[in-house]
Parts: sequence; structure tokens; C-alpha cells
Amino acid sequence: MSKIIVLANQKGGIGKSSCTRELGIYLSSLGKQVCLVDTDPQANLTKSLIDNSSSGLFEALTGKEWVFEQINDKLNILPGSISCAGLERSLVAEIDCYTRIKDLLCDKSFEKFDYILIDSPPSLSVMTINALTASDYLLIPMKPSQYCMQGTNDLISTVSKVKKTLNPELKIAGVIINEFERNPVIVREITKEIEEAFGNCVFSTRISKAIAFEEVISTKQGIIERKNRSSEEIRLIGDELISRIENGLSYAV
Ligand SMILES: Nc1ncnc2c1ncn2[C@@H]1O[C@H](COP(=O)(O)OP(=O)(O)OP(=O)(O)O)[C@@H](O)[C@H]1O
Ligand SMILES: [Mg+2]
Repeated sequence: MSKIIVLANQKGGIGKSSCTRELGIYLSSLGKQVCLVDTDPQANLTKSLIDNSSSGLFEALTGKEWVFEQINDKLNILPGSISCAGLERSLVAEIDCYTRIKDLLCDKSFEKFDYILIDSPPSLSVMTINALTASDYLLIPMKPSQYCMQGTNDLISTVSKVKKTLNPELKIAGVIINEFERNPVIVREITKEIEEAFGNCVFSTRISKAIAFEEVISTKQGIIERKNRSSEEIRLIGDELISRIENGLSYAV
């Protein structure tokens, strides 16, 4: 059975797509079959990994022909596109609007994957709720900033509603602190606030702020292909994720 993991946080620019890409590349480097699903109409995850795609999530959700784009023999992506913005608007009128991605992932073509990682848009939109409904686990990337901290209640309340109605099996696999910096006092203070609020839900490794995250976007490579602190941090987060899932750990927030 594939493990389906959504990375979600309605705050923009806090590392959802970067963490999805890096964890996907890392898990595939361990020999796991991984599929990335880009539900964000911005398609940043897609653009950071491939140049062009002939089809993607939009086609898959609208009954058209589609194929996975192969990044390597272990890593595939179901690309996102701007067309998903229009699709979100039209889906709202449909009775099954929140289960479209869940239904899609039941297709036999997804059976071969050990992990399916879903990137979501910076909103609590139809696509995000679809992604939460389709997933076994939620990973919440957070940046130690006031705005990110303030938005958490909305995310948690949406997750609670999804658990009560659409997906009672959804488990919280953890909170990842991204763009951590040791020096600014305010960053340390907000990091402490996040750790106090989420307790042992927070991954023990933090991802440091590093320019490498920006650099790898244009190279279409992963940070783990470099030898630096960021690649080590991603490996540790990936290992902790596997161990949390294998040990059946999940967190109430
Ligand atoms: N640890 C980091 N250090 C430095 N820059 C980072 C780090 N993580 C992500 N970034 C950069 O921050 C920007 C936003 O990251 P990313 O696109 O992953 O966030 P996002 O949450 O997916 O954004 P959106 O909400 O728009 O989808 C990108 O330019 C990325 O390169
Ligand atoms: Mg993104």
C-alpha cells in the first residue's frame, strides 16, 4: 500500500514545495518508488523538476488522457498547471468536489508507488481539502515568522473538520521548521513558541535557511545531491519521517 503524504500550510512561501521536492528526491534515492502530485496551480514543484509536461493533474481529474512524467526510474510526478485554478472553480458545484484526488489515487497506476507526496497551494482551497482527504499523513512545514504562527489555528481547524467528515484516518506526521536561523533573536523566540505549541509533533531536525534552496530550482536537481548542511538536514528529516510512519506515530494538535 502506498503511503500518501500531503504537505500543507495555507501560509505562502514557507517551504511546502521545497520540502515536497527534497523529501521526494531523498526517498527515491533510498530505492523507494515515489510519485509527486502537484495540486498547486502555481505549479512551482513541477517547474522546479521538469521543463515541460504534456499532461498532468488537470487532465487526470477531467477524464482526459494523462501520463506520469518520469524524473528518474524511481521518481515520477503528476504535474500541476494553471488550468487547475479554473478546475477548482468549476469543482465547487460538484457533489464529489472534495474526493476527486482520493478517487484518482485509487487508480491501479498508483499502486506501484511506496510514497505519494502531495504538494498543496497556499490556501485552504478545494485542492488543499482534496489533498487532505486523499492522504494518510499530513506534514506541516512552518517558517518561524509571526504570520506563519498566526495562521496555524485556521489550518488546524480545517484539518479537524476534514478528520470529522471526509477523512477520519488522516494522521499528523509532524511539523517541520523550515528556514531556521540561529542568530536573529526573534527567529529563536518564534521557533520556541512553535515547539511549545506543537510539542513532540515537531521534527527534531530543523531545516536551516540556505541559499542552496533557491539555487537548486534552476538546476532541476535536489539539495541531497550536494554535500552540505542542507542535504544532511533533509536526510535526517526524511529518516525521521520514515521512522514516524513505520512506528505508527501520529500527533494530535
Ligand atoms: N530552507 C530554506 N532556506 C532558504 N530558502 C528557502 C528554504 N526553503 C524554501 N526556500 C525558498 O523560499 C521560497 C518559497 O519556498 P517554497 O516555494 O518551497 O514555499 P511554498 O510554501 O511552497 O510556497 P507557496 O505557498 O507559494 O506554494 C522559494 O524561493 C524557496 O527556494
Ligand atoms: Mg509551493
